[in-house]
This record gives sequence, C-alpha cells and structure tokens, in this order.
Amino acid sequence: MPILDAHAFEFFSRSPEQTRRLGMRLGALLQPGDLVCLQGELGAGKTTLVQGVAQGWGTLDDVASPTFVLVNAYRRADSGQLFHFDAYRVDSLGEAEELDLDNYLAQGALVIEWPERVEPILPIERLWAWLEYESEEHRTMRFSASGERYESLLDHLRQTVYGGD
Ligand SMILES: Nc1ncnc2c1ncn2[C@@H]1O[C@H](COP(=O)(O)OP(=O)(O)OP(=O)(O)O)[C@@H](O)[C@H]1O
Ligand SMILES: [Mg+2]
Repeated sequence: MPILDAHAFEFFSRSPEQTRRLGMRLGALLQPGDLVCLQGELGAGKTTLVQGVAQGWGTLDDVASPTFVLVNAYRRADSGQLFHFDAYRVDSLGEAEELDLDNYLAQGALVIEWPERVEPILPIERLWAWLEYESEEHRTMRFSASGERYESLLDHLRQTVYGGD
C-alpha cells in the first residue's frame, strides 16, 4: 500500500529510538507554514515523534508535552521557529480558535498532538499521521498527505527512509 500510493506512507517502528529517527527525517524537511497532525491514543508515541522532528528540524531545545501552555515554541540558530501544540486539554473549538493557529503557521512549522479535537479549525492541506500501539515497543505510523506541498513532503520522507540517506 505505501509505496504505490503517492499520498500515503506506512512505517513500522520497533523502538522509541526508531520513532525519533523517523521524526528527525521528517523534521529536516519541514518549512515555515507546514502543518503536521499526529493522531493516536495516550502513549502512542506522538511526543516521542515530535522529539525527533524538533531535533531534525534543528533545535537544541528540549521537547516535552506542552503542559502549562498549549503551544511550545522551539528555536533554532537562524531564528526559525517550530511550534508544538497539544490539543488534549482544549475544551472547545472557541478556545482553539483563540490560539490563532494561522498566526503560528505564518511564523513557522506547526506540529499538533490530538489534532482530531480541533479538526474543524485546521487547514485542509496538511500531513496527517495516525500512530497506533501494537505492542510494548512496536507502533504503526500511517501518514497521509493532503495537498501538493504535503504530497511532495511525504515523497521526500519516503525517499529518505527507503533510500537510507
Ligand atoms: N516504537 C515506539 N515509538 C514511540 N514510543 C515508544 C515506542 N515503543 C515504546 N515507546 C514508549 O511509549 C511512550 C510513548 O509516549 P509519548 O509521550 O510519546 O506518547 P504520546 O502519544 O505523546 O502520548 P500522550 O497522548 O499522553 O501525549 C514512551 O514512553 C516511549 O518510550
Ligand atoms: Mg504526547
């Protein structure tokens, strides 16, 4: 399924390190304005993937789930920003709208955990991933691209994973 479909990609992770490595490959490809949505149950590995994304994107900041604020900002030497939004505790779409995600996207790339909670306010074009718990150290990650930018992003991600560079 994944190799033949330009809009989808499936990855089987056997460890947190492998998930972080996949995240690093993805993070290295992110540009300002990119939106990445990570859906999956508690402990599926969303934050673990974001740790890799932030590292591959180039930050030296520590990545933890946003707790006191809903959105964390990670910085890079070139003053680029990567935003990390955890929608788990968002109670209403109104609250999510007030965060003004477009404003974040105008300034950098944005990764969202629990995106399904705020789906109605998200741009249609995005990269969406479903993370699924298989066993203690195994997770399935399915990526789906909507829009040309994300199809190309996913294509590149697949190339770096299968090409091994
Ligand atoms: N293959 C794997 N990929 C990712 N995490 C894994 C894997 N195997 C085991 N784990 C462990 O599962 C846990 C995943 O936690 P993580 O915080 O990333 O999940 P989450 O999806 O962000 O959960 P939450 O909804 O609570 O934010 C970590 O303790 C991690 O070490
Ligand atoms: Mg998390």
